[in-house]
Amino acid sequence: MRTQVAIIGGGPSGLLLSQLLHRQGIDTVVLERKTKEYVLGRIRAGVLEAGLVDQMRTAGVSERMEAEGILHRGTVISYGDAQINIDFQAHTSKSVMIYGQTELTRDLYEAREAMSGNLVFGVNKVEIKDADTNAPHVTYEINGSMHRLDCDYIAGCDGFHGVSRQSIPKTVRHEYEKIYPFGWLGVLSETPPVHDELIYASSDLGFALCSMRNAQLSRYYIQCDLSDSPENWPDDVFWDALKRRIPEEHADVLITGPSIEKSIAPLRSFVCEPMQWGRLFLCGDAAHIVPPTGAKGLNTAASDVHYLSQGLVQFYQSGETAAIDAYSAKALERVWKAERFSWWMTSLLHRFPDQNAFDFRMQQAEVAFLRDNPNAQAVFAENYVGLPY
Ligand code: FAD
Ligand code: DHB
Repeated sequence: MRTQVAIIGGGPSGLLLSQLLHRQGIDTVVLERKTKEYVLGRIRAGVLEAGLVDQMRTAGVSERMEAEGILHRGTVISYGDAQINIDFQAHTSKSVMIYGQTELTRDLYEAREAMSGNLVFGVNKVEIKDADTNAPHVTYEINGSMHRLDCDYIAGCDGFHGVSRQSIPKTVRHEYEKIYPFGWLGVLSETPPVHDELIYASSDLGFALCSMRNAQLSRYYIQCDLSDSPENWPDDVFWDALKRRIPEEHADVLITGPSIEKSIAPLRSFVCEPMQWGRLFLCGDAAHIVPPTGAKGLNTAASDVHYLSQGLVQFYQSGETAAIDAYSAKALERVWKAERFSWWMTSLLHRFPDQNAFDFRMQQAEVAFLRDNPNAQAVFAENYVGLPY
């Protein structure tokens, strides 16, 4: 088989890239290890920056998002007794969109299928070959038989555990990592959200986040030990812990119900440099991970896709490689800023096991500064709604 751009990974990065390139007449094949149902079963991000919303429009897949997504013009940060309302609209004239990663991925799958996009599921043993030559190709196994896909370029959109990043020689690759000493326990429940904005809460018992998917579907998270397991958190224990971490006025009106999903995610900051090797480009979680505080994971994947799709379109329209040659540097500049914001917000709102009295005072001073300083709130808002592409 031959295509112009071989895309490894059928998560949001791979699908969005495939759809954007298709709209510009560029042929792609998407190779996904799992089934579509498996990919759609993963409950992940819920907040879309304005830039990703625009890309969904450009990709021609925004209809359901515009109808069902909820625009949020601000958020609440609570720390002990302090409550800070950050008004994104007032500071940036922008909002974020509440629309689940599952729904966005479903819309992209439907669009690719409607346009007879070439999506191959259940691929094993994917190997990237000759990415540093002018004749790159990908080999993979499906139902026991080996296949070869020749292409001009390869997009590694296969997430943190994929093969793409590992295909860049160790002598070329530099990896930066920080592991946080806690995780997030997430619960999805068919209950109305506790508040009409997201609440990021920090208390003596640790961090909690109140989020949502729609008017009847809520997503909540609490900070937990890394060694913890969802079985240790029956629903009533979870709801009780959540109530004790959020402001009383919200805890009092929280509607609880059975969880329909419960899982623990570890928190990690990770960046791989460069994001390009020869004709292989990394996008999204394949190249970088942020801790979820600040909702930057999916959104940063989307900005990579933006830069890469623009570069590839320029190449196929004019033969000019300036934009694809600049891809890694351009994407990394924005990636590091999202890393900074996510690290900062994680450091501000979690209880760390080794936190001493000085560290605690620093958090309190930082929160007081954010509460009292409109410029600090503007900086928060600018980062949260998403830095420009
Ligand atoms: P992925 O979504 O990981 O997609 C990669 C795809 O590649 C997968 O479908 C995988 O099956 C496939 N693949 C892997 N290896 C191969 C291979 N060898 N061959 C072929 N295919 C392969 N972000 C937020 O902003 N907010 C959140 O609340 C949030 N929660 C998260 C919870 C968890 C448990 C995780 C893991 C991530 C979370 N994120 C969150 C991050 C966000 O979901 C990711 O940033 C986003 O999914 C990145 O998209 P991606 O397409 O780059 O990678
Ligand atoms: C959600 C997850 C986040 O990490 C975040 O910062 C905001 C919302 C969510 O799953 O809804």
